[in-house]
Amino acid sequence: MSKPGVFVTRRILEPAMSMVDDFCEIDLWQDSLQPDREELLHHIAGKQGLLCLLTDRIDAEVMDAAGGVLKVISNCAVGEDNVDVPAATARGIPVGNTPGVLTEATADMTFALLMAAARRLLEGERQVRSGSWKTWSLDYLLGADFVGSTLGIVGFGRIGQAVARRAGGFGMRVIYSDPNPVPAEVGIKATRVDFDTLLRQSEFVSLHTPLTNETRHLMNAAAFARMKPTAVLVNTSRGLVVDQEALYDALSSKRIFAAALDVTVPEPLPTDSPLLGLENCIIVPHIASASWQARKDMSILAAENLIAGLKGEKLPHCVNVQVSL
Ligand code: GLV
Repeated sequence: MSKPGVFVTRRILEPAMSMVDDFCEIDLWQDSLQPDREELLHHIAGKQGLLCLLTDRIDAEVMDAAGGVLKVISNCAVGEDNVDVPAATARGIPVGNTPGVLTEATADMTFALLMAAARRLLEGERQVRSGSWKTWSLDYLLGADFVGSTLGIVGFGRIGQAVARRAGGFGMRVIYSDPNPVPAEVGIKATRVDFDTLLRQSEFVSLHTPLTNETRHLMNAAAFARMKPTAVLVNTSRGLVVDQEALYDALSSKRIFAAALDVTVPEPLPTDSPLLGLENCIIVPHIASASWQARKDMSILAAENLIAGLKGEKLPHCVNVQVSL
């Protein structure tokens, strides 16, 4: 029996690549940069499966370019805002994602960013490298304290909760805003508040919400105006959750103390982006889940979702479950 044809838009990690290879006829995009629109439309033609990354925009046109045979879209990411899920649902195509396996790695990186921004780690490192650090002094590169501070977590899903668990170890009080209260049995000490209260009370604000119409530019000028001048913002969710112009104004006017971004619009940011000129803004290249284990497990889950969809089985992790059932 011939194997189902799939388009894989970038090599995934072993053993996941071999799992896909065993089951499918792979058309593998070899370049490290994503296929452009034309290439995507060309390579998807006649394919029953698509395994893609968050850098691939998968909309109705791409789905239709498969010629009606596409059985599954497996996105190797937890966020699925790059896929037009309603369009996939309308076509009866299940969309898989990779939640759970990147939770701890992403929470670790959130804390790394939180601490780096609060304690001016990269600013100090730049001063050492450039030779502009002259001597130890009491008021040099002072930053924020953690013990007794309030951490406001926006979006209290798996990753938000994992960040909250770490905050306990630093003696921080945790508050969160989320449409759904977290049941007491989860055992995390955190208080649910409204978004406004969270902004007003937090020394640290960390974003863990999916990108939706409601969360697009959630952090805008009005939000920054409500934050403390000593506040630190961390974004490991999606770039569009933050209005970057408003963030620039807030940081350059010292309306807030500092920010650390794992995600931006666009990615990468152009090197002349005003945000890159700010000492109090750390920007890293969308690496929050980039630990050995997390990326391996994400690859495996993406392969499992793909193969299940090709077999017509329920995906281990499906975004549009109504299709997969
Ligand atoms: C990373 O940003 C992911 O959504 O997995």
